[in-house]
Amino acid sequence: MSTQTSYVLDELRNEAEYPAYASGKSGLLKIQDAPKESEAIYAFPCFQYAKSLDKNPTQVAEELAQEWNKMRQSKEWPQEWFPTSVLDHFEASRGYVNVFVDQKTLLARILKDLLDYGEKYGSYPKLNKTMVVDYCSPNIAKPLSVGHLRSTIIGQALINILRVRGYRVVGINFMGDWGTQFGKLIYAFEQWGDEKKLESNPIQHLLELYVRFHKEAKENPALEDDARAAFKRLQQGGEKERALWQRFRESSLEAFEKTVARLGVKFDHNWFESDFEGKADELVDELLVKGIAEESEGAIIIRFEPLWPAESPEPPPAQPPLVIRKSDGTTLYPTRDLASAVERIERWQPVHKLLYVVASEQTLYFTQLWNTLEKMGYPDILRHINFGMVSLPTGKISTREGRIVYLDDLLDQAKERAAQIIKEKNPDMDEGSRSKVARQVGIGAVIYADLSQDRIKDIVFDWSKMLAFEGNSAPYLQYAAVRCAKILEKAKSEDREGLDTLNEQDIPALAEELKEPESVKLLMHLGRYPQAIAEAAERYAPHVLASYLYDLATALSRFYTEVPVLKAETDAARLARLTLVDATGLVLRRGLELLGIETPEEM
Ligand code: ARG
Repeated sequence: MSTQTSYVLDELRNEAEYPAYASGKSGLLKIQDAPKESEAIYAFPCFQYAKSLDKNPTQVAEELAQEWNKMRQSKEWPQEWFPTSVLDHFEASRGYVNVFVDQKTLLARILKDLLDYGEKYGSYPKLNKTMVVDYCSPNIAKPLSVGHLRSTIIGQALINILRVRGYRVVGINFMGDWGTQFGKLIYAFEQWGDEKKLESNPIQHLLELYVRFHKEAKENPALEDDARAAFKRLQQGGEKERALWQRFRESSLEAFEKTVARLGVKFDHNWFESDFEGKADELVDELLVKGIAEESEGAIIIRFEPLWPAESPEPPPAQPPLVIRKSDGTTLYPTRDLASAVERIERWQPVHKLLYVVASEQTLYFTQLWNTLEKMGYPDILRHINFGMVSLPTGKISTREGRIVYLDDLLDQAKERAAQIIKEKNPDMDEGSRSKVARQVGIGAVIYADLSQDRIKDIVFDWSKMLAFEGNSAPYLQYAAVRCAKILEKAKSEDREGLDTLNEQDIPALAEELKEPESVKLLMHLGRYPQAIAEAAERYAPHVLASYLYDLATALSRFYTEVPVLKAETDAARLARLTLVDATGLVLRRGLELLGIETPEEM
């Protein structure tokens, strides 16, 4: 049970910000992390503030540092808010006020946080705020694309990170299951469908039927009319059509769930677009009455004000209108999506944020959705969590046309390649373990390749980089975690017992033992884990956590090269170093788990 409710660096940050707040300058003096090579922890750049005073930033920083140090010694400083303060002093340097700590106190406090929180280290108390996350969200009867793979990986990592950050999170897989193409599929299945194939390999079969329909329709355009008629019957509730379409939905969902389960993903809710048809229809009427939507050439549309790009002399680009009802009276994807957004807002109210993890291609569309909700009077809660494209590895997994990539094939290939590498590295591993480890490493490599860089960027799947045991890759991090576990396994039982029975009284002695720069760096970095989680959550950026973990693995490897652990000179030193290894292993394992990556037992 934890005896405290916050982490030392969060407390330090609050305390360091106090003088800026107290003097009403916090708007112009914003705290940030000090550069990595600096001895300071936080820094306040003073440039903006100096500008507002029309003064020189260097001088302003010096004055501020002096003022704040004096304030800290005085009665004005609310000591009682910061009972275990680690702040030492403020110091000016070239336009910055840097925040310095008493390192001994800080190290001891990090150890205390690690000990108090145990397995829960890095998690935050409940915030009572709800996040609704839309992710994966494919269209049925089609294979999952690499775009859906990214959405699933990024979405699940965000969900995990937001949960430990204290949010209540609801994950929704919102599947497209409505539109004229289902008339085509119904027609095609009735003509050429194969029951057995629909059972065993639904997605592939439906895709074949779709391709065949288009081929035949080229020869015989009348098929298009047949398809339209079939869709009409579906819309009107035709029993045969409904039953068939229902099977397309069920078998598609089953296939999707099976594939994403390989990534450790299970959806909280599976929603279908078509379930919002009725609500979408009502919504159009409501928007018309409210004057938010209007008629145009028989269709119903929403117009938007032009976007004014900041500092551009050009006339603003017009924002295209959003069509919400076609002239034939039917709704569209945006209408049903909008109705579903309203449903989310109402069902889980008050919703803190509505997140949509969808490729950057849909940026304009989500701007329109955001604008529409705003016109409807909803608070500003919709966020498009966009991401770049994936370049595909060439070779086996791309089909002859080079376009469709089956995710299952991609994941199979990752596993196969990992198995090869493991066989080379660890020829003695038995078949069963190798298969399990190959799965963990292969899938982990795919997930990490995605999450290790800013999601906005395009990614290229480069197998050799993804599966390398050195460098910024999943196997490197997994290996570091496994190594920590191995070291602990090899420790003597007295040492392990010592670790298990550590308590608060032991902390000063432990901290005293951690003298080498590599040990200090490693412990300091462990202290930053909660902030990495908080920042990743705040910026919806799993890569913040990924790069934190990479730096941790690197700090571990430096420590392990320079500082003997099992062969430490004294019992006390060994215990202190084992504590570090134990904590590092824990943070690596838990951090990877948040990203959706398993840690193997051996490698
Ligand atoms: N089904 C769409 C596609 O596959 C993505 C849907 C994203 N989610 C949403 N609520 N609009 O491109």
